[in-house]
Formats: sequence, structure tokens, C-alpha cells
Amino acid sequence: MKDESARMGSKIAVIGTGYVGLTTGACLAHLGHDVICADIVPEKVEALNRGEIPILEAGLDDLVHEGLRSGQLRFVLGSEHAVDDAEFVYLCVPTPQGEDGSADLSYIEAAAQQIGPHLQSEAIVINKSTVPVGSTFVVEQALGRADVSVVSNPEFLREGSAVHDFLNPDRVVIGAEDQGAAIRVAGLYLGLAAPLQVTDPASAETIKYASNAFLATKISFVNAIAAVCEAVGADVNDVVLGMGYDKRIGNAFLRPGPGWGGSCFPKDSRALVRIAEDAGYDFDLLKGVITVNEEQFERVADKIEHMAGGAVEGKTVAVWGLTFKARTDDMRDSPALEIVRRLRARGAVVQAYDPSVEEPGDPRLDGIEIATDPYAACAGAEVLAILTEWDEFKWLDFDKVGETMAAKRVVDARNLVDRTALLRRGFVYQGIGRA
Ligand code: UDX
Repeated sequence: MKDESARMGSKIAVIGTGYVGLTTGACLAHLGHDVICADIVPEKVEALNRGEIPILEAGLDDLVHEGLRSGQLRFVLGSEHAVDDAEFVYLCVPTPQGEDGSADLSYIEAAAQQIGPHLQSEAIVINKSTVPVGSTFVVEQALGRADVSVVSNPEFLREGSAVHDFLNPDRVVIGAEDQGAAIRVAGLYLGLAAPLQVTDPASAETIKYASNAFLATKISFVNAIAAVCEAVGADVNDVVLGMGYDKRIGNAFLRPGPGWGGSCFPKDSRALVRIAEDAGYDFDLLKGVITVNEEQFERVADKIEHMAGGAVEGKTVAVWGLTFKARTDDMRDSPALEIVRRLRARGAVVQAYDPSVEEPGDPRLDGIEIATDPYAACAGAEVLAILTEWDEFKWLDFDKVGETMAAKRVVDARNLVDRTALLRRGFVYQGIGRA
């Protein structure tokens, strides 16, 4: 819902047009602000100005087109040109994992150094990138401006529903030393009905890491329980349902699967282990969460191999789903790719289909035969592995799937499809944490 006061509109620059920056820019323009987004890749800027969106993100096209039409959203090359008139500057540049597991701050420092001399006096720089505790200070140093405030405002956007999450947040967290700056940033979100938490920068930065680490912990926990269920003959779906009725537990984020991945959880959980270690705390619990996740990739690969008769060497394995989760085209740290890599290392021939992967040009797909439809992926396969929870996989013609395969065997690493319907059609079926 829009609020009239928000429609008064502030002048905002967004540095970086990746998942976070583009969503942030488009949503802020939708809330009535005047937004200029800057990127360093000329082709990307040109495409965005033509309204071409480089990522699959529900509702983002509409908002970008709306912003371009109204003139409230523009894309420019180079951050200097974006910031000279801005009251607020969002830093949305990547913080990849460095060699030692810590977050690499070089992009954020470079962006801050670049914009520093061009900022208006009293401008506020808002850090949305996920950064280690203390980075607000690093940004302040890189800006080199005593008349500019730096505020931490972590994002909690899930890929695939980032626009929805931005406009309907569970909370808005602002970390600032300067209360006046915090209040001005809070004003940007006036149109959103969400609890607002103002805290210090270190706490805001920790909230982001702690939230992602806790969510990863939930999934590793449920994947570990799934392993127990398999050992004792219980059904994890029923177990999770029964657990979820307890309001203290809840049923969200407890879906067993092939392990967690994506652009955030793997790097943020490792970064938090490192942050804790540097501060003198050995975060054994979180290390265990990461280990359980890596074991899960192996467990699923083992399951597929077992289903293929004990070895996959020289055998064809069909794979449905390559992205790290459904409704995104993102394959960064995808559990599906990790499992495929392990299968190929064991000698399997992998034929894969993913609704969002059209051309095999991506080097991460080298050696994988990319099929143009899910049935073609199954041709001659000894086993089908369902690795990403795309809805459309549920509604396919499994008689046709069975006719195409060399043997009717399915490993459903997302507990996605109707097990009973498959058994009725003569398939051998294995899910996660259930028979
Ligand atoms: C995550 C956080 O949810 C978001 O708040 C943060 O800011 C960015 O990181 P995202 O990476 O888009 O978002 O994916 P998310 O939907 O959280 O899923 C992460 C991984 O966990 C995926 O691999 C997904 O398949 C897996 N997952 C999620 C499960 O295996 N089971 C679940 O119940 C939920």
C-alpha cells in the first residue's frame, strides 16, 4: 500500500543493479521516490533503460516498466553521475565470500571511495549489502566525508518473491549511530506496514547474519531429522506437520530437501562462523549446520546411486531442476548442481531439464546434457532425480515419463510429486525422510 507522505518522494541513488539493487530501486520508485540506479556494466544499463530485466523475479518487470514510464526510475552508467543530486544513496554491491570464508568488502569499499567526493553535504549512505559487523565504519572511512552519515539497513529479500518481500516486509531494521539519520531513512519506508527497529549498526549487521544462519539451521535440522526418519521408519512430512502445530516452532522453513544453497545462506553462514572466530567465539553449532548441509548433498547423491542399482558409472541419470530453488533462474551455490557434480564424478551421464535454463552456454553446465523438456531429459534414464521444487513437475504425465525411461525409478529430493500416484504407475519411489 502506498502512503501519501511517501509519495512526496526523496531523491535516491542505488549503486548496483543486481537482485537486491534492482528490486530496491524499482520498489522505492513504486513507493513514490525519485530513483537513479547505477551500474558499471554498459550493456546492462542500456538493457534496463529499454525495460529488459536480466533476472527472473516475479513482478519486477511491471515495477521497472512503471518506473521508466513515470520517469521515477532511471538507470545510468557509473555511480558518480547517480549520486550528485541524491539525498540517500543505497549501496547494493556484492559481498562475495573471500578465500578465508570472510566476506570480501572490496566492491563496497571501491563504491564508497568512488561516490565519496560527489555526495551532497548531509546525504545519507545506506548499506544494504550483507557486511560483517563493523563495516559501517569501513564505509565511513572509504567515503572520507564527515558531513555524510552511514546507516545499515539490511535486506531480507527472498529471490523469487523479492518484490513482495520488499513491499510487505516482516520488519525494517535500521542501524545508525545518528538518530536523525535513522529517522530520515525510516521516512523512506512510510508506505509500508511493518515493524520498524532502530538499533546500532553492529546489531543491525548481526541481525542479518543471525537471521540467515537461523533459517539455515532450521533446514539443516529438518534434513537431519529426515535422516533419522529414514533410519527409524518415520515419515518426515508427518513429523514436520506435528512439530509445526507448536506455535513456538511453526511450520515455515522446515521443508526437507537436497540441502540449502543460493547466493546468501552458504556465504553468510560461513562468514558468521568467521566473524565469531575472529571475535574469539567458536561457533560450533553453526559449523555443524554447514556440515549437515554438505552431508545432505552426499546423501542425496548416494540415494540416486543406490536407486540406479548401486553404481551410476556409465548410466544415464535424468535430473529435473538445476536452480537453487524454484521460481528463480539463479544457479549460484545450487544444491542441484552440487549433486549433479557428484554424480558426474561417479561416472553418470546427466540429462537435465530446468524451466528457467534455456541455453547450455553457462560454464557451470559444462558436461551436462540440457534437455528442452522434462520428458526428453528422461529418455533412456535409469533413474530420475527431482532436485528443484518447480510446481510444474507435479503435473506432468508420469505414464509418459515411465515409457521414456529405461527403468521407472524416482528420487524425489523435494518430496514434491504424488508418491501414491507414482507407485500406482509402477515406479520405485524414494523421497527424503520417508519411504
Ligand atoms: C534467503 C533469505 O530467506 C532472505 O531473507 C535473505 O535475505 C537472502 O537469503 P534466498 O536465498 O532467496 O533468501 O532463498 P530462500 O527462499 O531463503 O531459500 C534458501 C535455500 O534454502 C534454498 O536452497 C531453498 O531450497 C532451501 N530451503 C528453504 C529448504 O530446503 N527448505 C525450506 O523449508 C526453505
